[in-house]
Amino acid sequence: MTEAARVILGRILSFAEEPRLAGAGALRLIENGAVLVEGGVIAAIGEAGDIVAQAPAGAALDDFGDKLILPGFIDAHIHYPQTRVIASYGTQLLEWLQKYTFVEEQKLRDPRHAEFVARFFLDELFRQGTTTAAVYCTVHPASVDALFAEAEARGARMIAGKVMMDRNAPETLRDTPQRGYDESKALIQRWRGRGRLGYAITPRFAPTSTDAQLEAAGALAREHPEAYVQTHLCENHAEIALVKELFPWTKTYTEVYQRYGLLGPRTVLGHCIHLEESEVAMLAESGSVAAFCPTSNLFLGSGLFDMRRLQEHAPPVRVALATDVGGGTSYSLLETANEAYKVLQMNGQSWPAAQALYQLTLGNARALGLEDRIGAVSAGFEADLVVLDSRATPAMAHRMEAVDGDLAEELFILMTMGDDRAVAETYVAGRPVKSAIDPRPAKQGESGRHNGL
Ligand code: GUN
Ligand code: ZN
Repeated sequence: MTEAARVILGRILSFAEEPRLAGAGALRLIENGAVLVEGGVIAAIGEAGDIVAQAPAGAALDDFGDKLILPGFIDAHIHYPQTRVIASYGTQLLEWLQKYTFVEEQKLRDPRHAEFVARFFLDELFRQGTTTAAVYCTVHPASVDALFAEAEARGARMIAGKVMMDRNAPETLRDTPQRGYDESKALIQRWRGRGRLGYAITPRFAPTSTDAQLEAAGALAREHPEAYVQTHLCENHAEIALVKELFPWTKTYTEVYQRYGLLGPRTVLGHCIHLEESEVAMLAESGSVAAFCPTSNLFLGSGLFDMRRLQEHAPPVRVALATDVGGGTSYSLLETANEAYKVLQMNGQSWPAAQALYQLTLGNARALGLEDRIGAVSAGFEADLVVLDSRATPAMAHRMEAVDGDLAEELFILMTMGDDRAVAETYVAGRPVKSAIDPRPAKQGESGRHNGL
């Protein structure tokens, strides 16, 4: 699948550091820039004239003028089986799971349906400029196979895992401690070393696992230090009360995961809104990552994430940004950043656009321990890129007329007004993938590969 060389021209924006800590020096902007891509990897970046001169004969040339070329966006927490749960009315977390989510997730027991949804899901991520995500599948191992097979075929870097649940879920969505362990282990072994894929051990959250299952998940994490762990933590008050009822030995929710060895630098915990002080310390000391999911937290009425509290703790808690579709209401990480800004405003906190775009790229790459290969437009990095158009809509173009070359202002407009329309192109391993998507959404059964449910 190796492609011919390609030169991508535009204004290249990447981050060498975190703007919050390093200030303006964190940004790398090349106004008349070019990226040379060969074999799925960034071979060189620099001034357009220099890069064009060194490109091999026959290289494709994509000229985006004054549009911005950034590293592809990274979504630290999303549920692919929930593409038909997004925008489900009127409930908070626990009822929302029972009423909508668990109903929909049962449909992925049909591997053809899982394939159909996985294709839609990856198309949608690419349309939004997202090139890597940490993804929850369902309890069915075939749901992981479907997503990984599709990601492998597209050359995309994806992290995913089979949800483990052995209680408080419909019978057809439950495994057992042993089955959850065996199926997860088999998936780790089946997909190890293939494509750009990583496995995440995925106990859904403490309320749907027994002590025995969490213990088995912890054993898996010890046996497979290369795997991630992903789960949910302290999203909703009723959820926290339920955890204390189900695990009477614990003082806090976080302690449940700690006891079973599920915290650590490769653990991503969705939400982390209602944390006691001792829980913040446990997250910080273990190096675990708190995933801020603003559209979901607002939509489900869960609460306001306190970024400053986590980042100013000593040592700091590592944070990531995520959509959490389908509790989240948008696949767009630009829209997610926009909502994050508003949540932080509600807590008297600010969030400059440079910090937001850092978080969507290098920041989330660091949260996932992938900062040596994605999250920067830099020679030797994988060529996952997003091209952004600050004038994508009439309202954005109109607003941009009032900007006099101020990059911070332009980025803030992109973050506040941008969505999929601002994504001019997405590249995965050097291949343009947004323009390649069939604009007509596939219908179930249309392809002949699905019988409809
Ligand atoms: N907690 C456990 N499962 C879920 C889920 O699917 N979405 C959200 N937002 N929270 C959860
Ligand atoms: Zn979630």
